[in-house]
Amino acid sequence: MDHSWGDTAGDTRRRITVTDMSVVKINVLTVPPAMRETLESRFAGRAGMVEKADGFEWFELLRPLEGTDTYLVYTRWRSEEDFQRWQSSMAFSEGHRAANAEAAPPAHGHPGGAPGGQGAPGGQGAPAATGATLWSFEVVQSAAPPAG
Ligand code: HEM
Repeated sequence: MDHSWGDTAGDTRRRITVTDMSVVKINVLTVPPAMRETLESRFAGRAGMVEKADGFEWFELLRPLEGTDTYLVYTRWRSEEDFQRWQSSMAFSEGHRAANAEAAPPAHGHPGGAPGGQGAPGGQGAPAATGATLWSFEVVQSAAPPAG
């Protein structure tokens, strides 16, 4: 549930909304420059199932502008439980099917593919990301411009 406070004079310009239950889960992907296009086209063709997950609030794919090979997959959830439920659901597997399918079985016995593996960069069948780390946050404050 959201709580909003304006100041006592009713000045809504300084209203702050605290979404006290939301959690932010950011998947941090290391993507070599040569694989950017591959990654983005995989996301462009994404399953679009996360939108239907219970407790899902927001998704953004963030492309780095400078100085880093790190893409952020930003997601926001009503609660930790909602995120965990999605992550262990068919919708999550389905949403990562292409990433898994396109990750060819590794030649040297290392687990490849995504999620759950880190593959070598480069070739056709390789995952676009060479690394993935999950960051977790809880939302303490948020703000948006006044409606209208
Ligand atoms: C090893 C870990 C992971 C890798 C390398 C990875 C990579 C990818 C890639 C390439 C896609 C595009 C679709 C596809 O190719 O199938 C995708 C979809 C997505 N990923 Fe991940 N992912 C991983 C785990 C996670 C985790 C832990 C989260 C949680 C924040 C996440 C959030 C998403 C979302 C929201 C989508 C869109 C799914 C949809 O549209 O239903 N991913 N991921």
